[in-house]
Amino acid sequence: MNQKHLLTLHDWSAEDIKETLDLADKLKYEQKNGIEHHHLKGKTLGMIFTKSSTRTRVSFEVGMYQLGGSALFLSSNDIQLGRGETIYDTANVLSRFLDGIMIRTFKQSDVEELAQFGSIPIINGLTDLVHPCQILADFQTVREHKDGQLKGLKLAYIGDGNNMAHSYLYGGAKMGMEVAIATPPAYTCDEQVVKNAMEDAAANGGKITITTDPQEAIKNADVVCTDTWVSMGQEADKEEKVKAFSAYQVNKELFSLADDKAIFLHCLPAYRGFEVTEDIIDGPMSRVFDEAENRLHAQKAVMVGLMAK
Ligand code: CP
Ligand code: NVA
Repeated sequence: MNQKHLLTLHDWSAEDIKETLDLADKLKYEQKNGIEHHHLKGKTLGMIFTKSSTRTRVSFEVGMYQLGGSALFLSSNDIQLGRGETIYDTANVLSRFLDGIMIRTFKQSDVEELAQFGSIPIINGLTDLVHPCQILADFQTVREHKDGQLKGLKLAYIGDGNNMAHSYLYGGAKMGMEVAIATPPAYTCDEQVVKNAMEDAAANGGKITITTDPQEAIKNADVVCTDTWVSMGQEADKEEKVKAFSAYQVNKELFSLADDKAIFLHCLPAYRGFEVTEDIIDGPMSRVFDEAENRLHAQKAVMVGLMAK
């Protein structure tokens, strides 16, 4: 692994992603078979959270423990960063104590500054722009259920043009997938992200489709994804968003347009009856709990790749 950080998957090559997914599969096998893999013995990961989390916090903390190291939960309410200490000072100080930092926050630029000013690996645990760890877990799940393949598969994302949509664009483009995103007109993806993804897709044999038509996006898809319509920090917009997204619900009727063997993914937390109906998320096509479990294995692979050096 040539990378120092995981800030977005746009920064990583297809080879970096593949190597991480292969290692994730190996670590999953070892963990399930009681084979010790203490690649990060004696190392410490700091986990800075400015937003809530269930999966990210638990999977990183358990993952560090399984790798022979330890993890420190640092709520931004409790550390001086939350009271205005600069990222520059925080990055310099934490670099003296820790071997890596996972950060979940609002601004992507804060994560990038931490990487710029610190001297230890930084892992993006979600920003308003992207959620790269989630996509690695999703791709591990897709490979498990689609004969080890990513290239050439069609992944449809129906919903908000948010951090998850951006991350599917970045990850899918690198892996030569066909990524089709359908959002309401007022909630489209970031233009720069789409441009970057289109360039990456062209270079890796993938294809990007951006539309406002959910039927067009989901047609013959192998993987169907959605996410909450109301991301963390957008609670005040809930009423307006629920109205704007009513035609973008992943339900039986819409799902019937996907490939017969299509699987359903959702990063969770999910809101049944809004972005997805119960018969889909709790139905036979759903792989959401494999996907959640794979956060553990994929992130262990990320940490080993970045922190074992
Ligand atoms: N999918 C995900 O990142 O979940 P949490 O918000 O619970 O960490
Ligand atoms: N888009 C969601 C993802 C949660 C894991 C959010 O940012 O809240």
